[in-house]
Amino acid sequence: MSKVNENREIVSCISEMRAAGDYLYTHSINVALLSMLLGKWLKYDYLRLKSLVTSAFLHDIGKSRIPSEILNKPGTLDENEFAEIKKHCVIGYKLAESFPGMDEDILKGILQHHEREDGSGYPFGLRGDRIHEIAKIIAVADIYDAMTSNRFYKERACPFDVIDYIEKDHLGTLDHRITSTFLKNIASYYIGEHVILSSGDTGEIVYINPYHISRPIVKCGDKYVDLSAERSVKIAEMM
Ligand SMILES: [Fe+2]
Repeated sequence: MSKVNENREIVSCISEMRAAGDYLYTHSINVALLSMLLGKWLKYDYLRLKSLVTSAFLHDIGKSRIPSEILNKPGTLDENEFAEIKKHCVIGYKLAESFPGMDEDILKGILQHHEREDGSGYPFGLRGDRIHEIAKIIAVADIYDAMTSNRFYKERACPFDVIDYIEKDHLGTLDHRITSTFLKNIASYYIGEHVILSSGDTGEIVYINPYHISRPIVKCGDKYVDLSAERSVKIAEMM
């Protein structure tokens, strides 16, 4: 989406983001790319896609104004520190509002990407249909990237564990249609991958069950292990 690069104000903010910490910079790019994929799977046209990608890329721009000792603090944050972090949505919205070429879709994505379907999100605790669709897409991409990055785990988490976590833990907080479109398509990239099961068997992922995305069918030698039926077995490792 090359036009984004022509916008000087955005470019200067990107270097501010880089200064705020490498994690924020790579996370912003990843969320923009994941959101672009998701927008395509949801059949977005070029203009909507452009707003989506711009919004996703800038979603955490407000964090560039949060003190770095809070932003990069290792370990858990106390209540006041968390309240500070939460301000990044409104700060980001106000910053982006001053850039040329920002439309309402872009701004809403930045402002609302931490709102949740059941009203448990922030900054306003909006529910379901009051949350802009672009913000809902960014929310899914944001959570997926945070969980698959190296930041919180020594090793990268197994993608099927992340899918399982999102399916279970975010039921009711993320938009169901957007989340299942994302997980189904992401999971299908792993068809043909070789895996080691917790039973010790090795095999190849051959089928993604649309009703149970985190538990595919794995072909081990000449037997098929349906992980949606064999609940005691899981994918232990991707090879
Ligand atoms: Fe955020």
